[in-house]
Amino acid sequence: MIALAQQHSALEAAGAQAASIERLFNVQLALAALVCGAVIAAAVWAARRRRPVDEDPRAPQREASARQAVVAAVVVSVAIAFITLWYDFTVGASLHQPPRPALTIRLTGQQWWWKVEYEDPVPQNRVTTANEIHVPVGRPVVLELVSTDVIHSFWAPSLAGKRDLIPGHLNQMWLQASRAGVYRAQCAEYCGLQHSNMALSVIAQSEDEFASWLAAQREPASPPSDSLTTRGLRLFERGTCASCHNITGTAASASLGPDLTHLASRRDLAAGTLPNDSAALAGWIADPHRSKPGVLMPAHDLSAGDLQALVAYLRTLR
Ligand code: CUA
Repeated sequence: MIALAQQHSALEAAGAQAASIERLFNVQLALAALVCGAVIAAAVWAARRRRPVDEDPRAPQREASARQAVVAAVVVSVAIAFITLWYDFTVGASLHQPPRPALTIRLTGQQWWWKVEYEDPVPQNRVTTANEIHVPVGRPVVLELVSTDVIHSFWAPSLAGKRDLIPGHLNQMWLQASRAGVYRAQCAEYCGLQHSNMALSVIAQSEDEFASWLAAQREPASPPSDSLTTRGLRLFERGTCASCHNITGTAASASLGPDLTHLASRRDLAAGTLPNDSAALAGWIADPHRSKPGVLMPAHDLSAGDLQALVAYLRTLR
């Protein structure tokens, strides 16, 4: 498990696209500061020199040079506007051409979590998880963005710009992490009550670490090893859990909610809302609406023993 703080800033680029966006921001900020400074200086200069025209013997010459100054200022302003426009288009175009071959991940936005699918030509090698994507450092990753309900938007500010997830439309973007770390991504389009609790972690790791993570995710869930976790699995399969969730290797195979096959290996619960530990998991199962009002998952009125067994089983899903 990577014990790093999450990075979430467009001004701390950790990828080629974020770096070019950061550069664009810095150039535009510098130009805007320069223009602002020049305008203030000109205004102060003009205010200090102001004299009634009929008292000034050189009024006609001043009128002519003022006109020239205004024309020059207009020309410079238009030139600056066109330079920044051209620069903006150039950066935009460079962000939207995914290099090939690249790792492809399909991201589906749902109220209010992210379904993550690693594509592979061999069906058994495809991996489904939720609210967390792992990427190898230095390799381009193409994100295919779709939505099943409303418009969401994917934004990992340290890695790349924003892109919308639109129902019935496939959008694409790509990113490439230049150093290992945990980068926070957030839904950046208002999508309902829990829009602000729709986060995702992008975990950039070395090729070796990424390969072993992917291999582990391809494995089915390990079977329960004692009576408590066996009881937990039975409750999961026979209760309402299995109507919405999948745990590969068990009888639960629904896909309405997040895939839970390797739930315990993730950093957090409920799309970045809660830490991934036993207490938070128990609280979430008993009453998800307390920490995330409006979620589709219903509350569960379980006995203390049943809840303990269910949580103990889910905690084994590493
Ligand atoms: Cu999804 Cu805002």
